[in-house]
Amino acid sequence: MKIEGRTFVVSGGSSGLGLATVLSILQAGGHAAILDLNPPPASSLPPSGGGGAKFFECDVTSTTSIASAVAALTSWTSTTGLPLGGIIPAAGIGLPGLILSKSLDPLPLSSIDLVLGVNLRGTLDLVRQVLPHLAASPPYGDDGERGVVVMVASSAAFEGQMGQVAYAASKGAVAAMTLPMARDLSRFGIRVVTIAPSMFDSAMTAAMSDKVRAGLKKAMEFPARAGRPDEFASLVVQSIENAMLNGVVIRLDGATRMPSKL
Ligand SMILES: NC(=O)c1ccc[n+]([C@@H]2O[C@H](COP(=O)([O-])OP(=O)(O)OC[C@H]3O[C@@H](n4cnc5c(N)ncnc54)[C@H](O)[C@@H]3O)[C@@H](O)[C@H]2O)c1
Repeated sequence: MKIEGRTFVVSGGSSGLGLATVLSILQAGGHAAILDLNPPPASSLPPSGGGGAKFFECDVTSTTSIASAVAALTSWTSTTGLPLGGIIPAAGIGLPGLILSKSLDPLPLSSIDLVLGVNLRGTLDLVRQVLPHLAASPPYGDDGERGVVVMVASSAAFEGQMGQVAYAASKGAVAAMTLPMARDLSRFGIRVVTIAPSMFDSAMTAAMSDKVRAGLKKAMEFPARAGRPDEFASLVVQSIENAMLNGVVIRLDGATRMPSKL
């Protein structure tokens, strides 16, 4: 799938890994529909490529909010003439909490619902609502590709740490649905790839304490640093462009395997 001349829907595109993805899509000559609670910082989009990115306010936990954003973005693509080429549901939250606290309080259901609601239901509902439009895009190239879904899991899908039961459940589910989704969509010429990053620099990880950061560093192999958002975005670009990537979960972690305790 070629990025140039196509529009990609990026949830969570106002910050971190989603924003880096938007910038890479613009650089490759595509358009990006940014679906987020908040717009991206004005200074984050290049002046020349700014016209290729449009913000649509959206809360992925609300199916009506997604429906409004999808209606608005498809009307935008019919104005620009750049058909849809893919969906990158990168909106996500981490809300740590032990399943049972030291004082014997179970993890509040509200906290579980919120994490699953954004990371899992929000991913599925956005993909579900954009897919009919993606399947209607004109086929591209010899393979007749119509588009690519690039979902975002996490190392926590495989090695969730203490306090990550809900987050690991959401990301493990995203990883697990990659293959069946690819199987469902192959008849439409739509591929599905999931990226599972370890620790990457973003607003999400900026909130970590120095102690947690130092502990995570000890678990890193090479390079012994957090990933950069542009390194994540370059794998999204490759996932879009390489037709043989399908039905696969790709770890992007520099061989880091998260330990139980830091
Ligand atoms: N940064 C990491 O170390 C890391 C590691 C593994 C996986 N991830 C995953 O990568 C994705 C992006 O995270 P990030 O690190 O860039 O975080 P981030 O906090 O920088 O960006 C997340 C974005 O999602 C948006 N968002 C949150 N809730 C939303 C909602 N209900 N509706 C719409 N938008 C919403 C936020 O406004 C924000 O712009 C997440 O799914 C996260 O779980 C991140």
